[in-house]
This record gives sequence, structure tokens and C-alpha cells, in this order.
Amino acid sequence: MGFRKDFLWGGATAANQCEGGYNEGGRGISNKDLMPIGPDRNPIATGEKKSLDFEKDLYYPSLYGIDMYHRYKEDIALFAEMGFKVYRFSISWTRIFPNGDEDTPNEEGLKFYDSLIDELLKYDINPLVTISHFDCPIHLSKKYGSWKNKKMIDFFAKLATVLFERYKGKVKYWLTFNEINMILHRPFNAAGIFFEENDNRDQIKYQAAHNELVASALATKIGHEIDPDNKIGCMLLGGSTYPYTCNPEDVFEAYLDDRKNYFFTDIHVRGEYPAYALKEIERLGIEIEKTDEEMKLLKDHTVDFVSFSYYSTRVTSTDPEVLKNKTSDNAIFSIKNPYLKSSEWGWQVDPLGLRYTLNQIYDRYQKPLFIVENGYGAIDKPDENGYVEDDYRIDYLRSHIKEMRDAVTLDGVDLLGYTTWGPIDLVSAGTGQMSKRYGFIYVDLDDEGNGTLKRSKKKSFDWYKKVIASNGEDLD
Ligand code: BG6
Repeated sequence: MGFRKDFLWGGATAANQCEGGYNEGGRGISNKDLMPIGPDRNPIATGEKKSLDFEKDLYYPSLYGIDMYHRYKEDIALFAEMGFKVYRFSISWTRIFPNGDEDTPNEEGLKFYDSLIDELLKYDINPLVTISHFDCPIHLSKKYGSWKNKKMIDFFAKLATVLFERYKGKVKYWLTFNEINMILHRPFNAAGIFFEENDNRDQIKYQAAHNELVASALATKIGHEIDPDNKIGCMLLGGSTYPYTCNPEDVFEAYLDDRKNYFFTDIHVRGEYPAYALKEIERLGIEIEKTDEEMKLLKDHTVDFVSFSYYSTRVTSTDPEVLKNKTSDNAIFSIKNPYLKSSEWGWQVDPLGLRYTLNQIYDRYQKPLFIVENGYGAIDKPDENGYVEDDYRIDYLRSHIKEMRDAVTLDGVDLLGYTTWGPIDLVSAGTGQMSKRYGFIYVDLDDEGNGTLKRSKKKSFDWYKKVIASNGEDLD
């Protein structure tokens, strides 16, 4: 017995990393549009440096993406050729509400998604819609301070309502916020939040996190009311933390680190603040403004499933010397794991860690799980036809799918599906580069925005097609 018969194989992207068409269809400007490639990107992502207007001489890759706005039909046809059962994509908030606080949505923006969704349905591909993948209209940041402000809950609910109503009967699977825990690490990147000099950052981040959690519960309520068949999930930047040694101090530190992330899913799934979080908030000397009505929303409207991204595990220690051995990773601190190899960007490769993470989350919640991101960012070297022999990518995915299969068949984890990150090359969220490629499909575009945008199949294209056709049996 392998994966369930209706296992959802596919791929995942985000509007801000692939759509482009920033000045078309009445679209407004978002936080992600204002993140240039280069040395300013990280301080902007963390909210240290303000980026509220475009600067001359900087290149802003999310404005252009890979031009999927115009090429989605061609791209979806390629996904269909691989046999995708599901395609995860996100809505560009500013296509629907260019400023975020309008009363009525932008019909042209909705028409774009009508057509994209119909294209998927034509091939029997299930849409999996992320309502906000790090997306926030910049007007909302400027005028209201973004998610610091409770008004955002209603703006988000309005967006969600429009989408649930419009796509009733067409879209069944929804995610509210991509990697909601990212708000603690890269608040501007994740949620359009920037800081002033004397701000109490913990206060702002936890209040914003609370506001997003309430907005998610409210959207879940609305989504279920509009269509009880909707399956609405949360999304965590996943990957468990290992202790560097078996010193109980290290083991406990790793446990505490994991809880900082599970804080979010504990609330999404159980509907209340866990005791450890209340104590931590008290220790930080901050107070979250919460109303009884909000607490009831959290309690009454929990998620249907838990989804997460998985690129790697993390390692921590209590030894200051060991802690110096930092590795670059997906926004959350980790030290180097001496047992693992790393990608060119220092992301450590740990397939068994996926089985471990799946089990940890399933043990904790007993809810259906969905892996909605997993992949290997690498430098590809195409031949003159754009063909790439990406055996390294195949190896990464094969080893992770094997572990995922063991989690299902040997451990009994209830897994709904698997969408690889970036089935087509797209702009990197972290660095803004195109040269960090994840796709089965090569896109001729470089880090400065030069290229023909031509799509071509890599070696992994046929490999993944075979994996899907065999429902994960044939991984060779
Ligand atoms: C996740 C995000 O953090 O990781 C994606 O949800 C992102 O948006 C992915 O692209 C990979 O990160 P990067 O920095 O390699 O693009």
C-alpha cells in the first residue's frame, strides 16, 4: 500500500514570484514589488530599512516575475503534461484590491484568475489557492501600518469573501497565509511591516501575528459558510529543530525553538493560545490586544488541514562557540549539521528530516497534512536548447519522496498531497535571484531581467511525470 488513490501531486508557486504584469489589469503595488535584488533586500525584508517607494537604479524582480501573467496557458499546459493533479498558486491582493481598502474589487483582476482557474479545470487540475503569499498592498502598509493594525482583519476578510464567492464550486482547497511564522523573522517580506527606531519589535510582531491568526479564523468561517465543501488549511514554514548534542540543555533548547513555530499551528488547529506562549509573551513584557470576540473566532473556526513547506531541518545548541557555526537557511537560524550536505546556498539536505517533521506534526495534531513546498534551489547549466541535466534535483526530490512515502506507509501519517516548490523557475523569495532555480521547466531569464523568457523542459520534467503516473511508486 502506497499513497492514497486521490493523492494530490503537483507544484506550487506564488504570484509575486512569477506573475509580473505589475502595471496591467489595474493592479496596485505590494510590499514584495518593493524588494530589490542586492544588499538592501535583507534589511528591507526584516523591516529595518524602509522601502515604500521605488528607487532609481535598483532592479525589482517581482514587478516582472517570469511573466506568467501573459504565459499562464503555456505554463499550465506543461504542468498538465507532467500529470499534475493540483497546482498551488497565490492571489495577488493588489490585482483584486489595488490599494487594499476599496469597497469593491477590481473586476479585471478577478477575470485574470477566472481564466487561470478555468484553464486548470480544463485539465482536471485542482486549484490550491493561497490567499496571501507574503502579499500586502503597500498602501495598507503606508496608511495603516499593515498587520500592526486590526483594520487589516476586515480588509483580508473582504478579499477572502470575494474569492470564496467567486470561486465557489471551482476551488476546494485554500490556504490563508503562506508560512505564517515568517512574520516573526522577516516582517516586511511576510506582511509589509517595517519598524521605526524606538519600536518595541516583539510587541509589534506578536500583535501582528495575532491579527493574522484572527483574520485566518475569520476567513475560515466565511469560507465554510459560503461552501461547506471548502477545505481550508494553514501553512507553516516547517522543518524540525535538532539539538547539536544529547546534552539535555541542547535537547531542551531545540524543543523550545520548535515551539516558537508550533505556536502558530497550535492556535490554528486548537483554537487557543497554548500555555507556554502566554508565559513567553508575559516574559517578553508585551501585551497582545485581544477581544473576546476574536478569541471565540479562533476557538470556533479551526483549520481543516495543516500544510507546511519543507526544505531542511535546523540545528541549535546552548554552547556559544558552537552557535558561531551558523548556516544560511530559510530565514530561521540554524547552525551547520555536520552530517548533512548543503546546497549552493547553504540549505542543508535532510530527507529523513521530512519524515521526522511529518511525524512530529501529525503526532501533535492528528489532522490531515499537506506538503505544499519542497525543492532544491540550484544553479542550472542549460545547453543551447535550454535542456538541463538536473540529476541533483531529481536526487533531492527522490530521496524526499521516499521518506514521505515511509511516513505514510510505515508511520500512518494522513497526507493529502505534495506540491514541489517552483515547478517552473521563478524569482527567489529570499534573494530575488533567478539563478536560484527550482523548476522542472527552465525559464530563460537572468538576475538582471535579461532573457527571452522561453520555457524548456529539464531532465526532471519527465522524471516527475513518471513519479506522478505511478502514484509515487516509480522513483528511478
Ligand atoms: C518559502 C516561500 O519560504 O521558500 C517561497 O514560501 C520561497 O516563497 C521558498 O520561494 C524558497 O525560498 P527561496 O528564497 O529559495 O526562494
